[in-house]
Amino acid sequence: MSTHFQTTQSHTDPDVIDFGAGHPGDALLPRAILQAASAQRLSQPDASLLQYGLEQGDGYFRHALAQFLSRRYAAPVDMEHLFISSGASQALDLICTLYTQPGDVIFVEEPTYFLALRIFADHRLTVVPIATDLHGLDINALEAALATHRPALLYVIPTHQNPSGFTLPLDRRRRLLELSLAHNFLIVADEVYHLLSYDASPPPPLATFAEHNTVLGLGSFSKILAPGLRLGWVQAAPHHIQRLVASGLLDSGGGLNPFTSALVRVVLEEGWEDEYLERLHATYRQRIRALDAALQAQLGSVVTYDAPTGGYFFWLRLPERVDGEDLLQHAAAHKVSFRPGVRFSGQGGLRNYIRLSFAYYEDAQLAEGVRRLREVVREVYPSLP
Ligand SMILES: Cc1ncc(COP(=O)(O)O)c(C=O)c1O
Repeated sequence: MSTHFQTTQSHTDPDVIDFGAGHPGDALLPRAILQAASAQRLSQPDASLLQYGLEQGDGYFRHALAQFLSRRYAAPVDMEHLFISSGASQALDLICTLYTQPGDVIFVEEPTYFLALRIFADHRLTVVPIATDLHGLDINALEAALATHRPALLYVIPTHQNPSGFTLPLDRRRRLLELSLAHNFLIVADEVYHLLSYDASPPPPLATFAEHNTVLGLGSFSKILAPGLRLGWVQAAPHHIQRLVASGLLDSGGGLNPFTSALVRVVLEEGWEDEYLERLHATYRQRIRALDAALQAQLGSVVTYDAPTGGYFFWLRLPERVDGEDLLQHAAAHKVSFRPGVRFSGQGGLRNYIRLSFAYYEDAQLAEGVRRLREVVREVYPSLP
C-alpha cells in the first residue's frame, strides 16, 4: 500500500484481527482530554511552550509528574530525578549513545521486547539473553552470566513484561540491585506498563529504590495517555540526569517536547490522567476476561498461559512441535495475525510461543480473533486436540 497519505505507523486492515497491535484502538484514545487541555493552555498569553525547552524538561511539568508518580507508585519521586524524553524508545536510544560503545555486551531478558533489540542492533551491541521463569528474570542465571561477561547494561522490563506479562517480585528486585552494585553494571528498567496494573499493586519500580544509583527507569505516556504524544521520562540519580542533559542532542535542540509537556501538565494537574487511567484499567480488565474466556473455550486444550494482571499481552505457550511462524504464515488467509514468539528471543528460540495483545480490539473482536486462530491451528496441526 502507498504510504503517501498514511498518518499512522501501522495500517490495520479492517478485515483482519491483528493481535500484534500493541497499542490502543482509536476509540480508546483521549481526544476530549487533549482538546480540553489544549484549549486551557493555549488560551493563556504565555508563549513559553513554543520556545526551545529547558534541557531536563519543563520544571512545572516535572513537578506535576513527580507528584503524580509519587502518588501512583506509593513511593516518593523527586522532580530533580526526572528527565523528560520523547518516549521510552528515544530514551533507550539516548542511553545507548551515552553509556555504550559498539561491541559492548549488554544483557536482556529471554524473552524481551523485540523492538528494543532493534535499538541495540543500531548501536552494534552484543546482546546476551538471560533466562526468565514465571517470575521474570532468573537471578541465578544472571549471576552465572556475570561470571563470564562484564555487561555495559542490563535491559529489563520488571513489571507486566512485554511479551510474557511476568512481574519481578520484590526479593528478586533487591537481589538484582545488589548484583548491579557488586558487578558495577547499569540497569535500564523499562517500566512502561507499571501503571497498567489491574489487580494488586506491583512492587515499586526499580528506580524508586532510593539507595541505589545504578538504575535508569524508563516511563512513557504512550501506554497511559497516547503514543502519538511522544512523551516519556527517565527516573534516575542526579548524576545520570546530568549526563543525559549534557548530551549534544539536548544542547542543540533543547529539552524534548516542551509543547506536549505543557499540555500534559494540565492533564496531570486537573486530575484527568487519574480518571483516564481508571477508565483504561476497567476496559483492559474486561478485555482480559473476554480474551481469557475465548481462549479457554476455543483453544483450552492447546495453549497454556497465565492470564495477565496488567500490561497489554497474553503470552501463549503451544505444544513443543508447534512453530508460531508457521502459524503466522497461514494466519493471513484466515484474516487474523499475532506476533510469533521467536521475535522476542535474543537467540532464535521460543518458537512454540505466540503473543496476543488485547489493547486494540473490543471484546467481540477478541473472541472472533480467537475463533480464527483456532481455524489456523486446526489447519496447520490437524492432529492437535
Ligand atoms: C516494553 C516497551 N518499551 C517501550 C515501548 C515503546 O515506548 P514509547 O512509545 O514510549 O517509545 C513499548 C511499546 O510497545 C514497550 O512495550
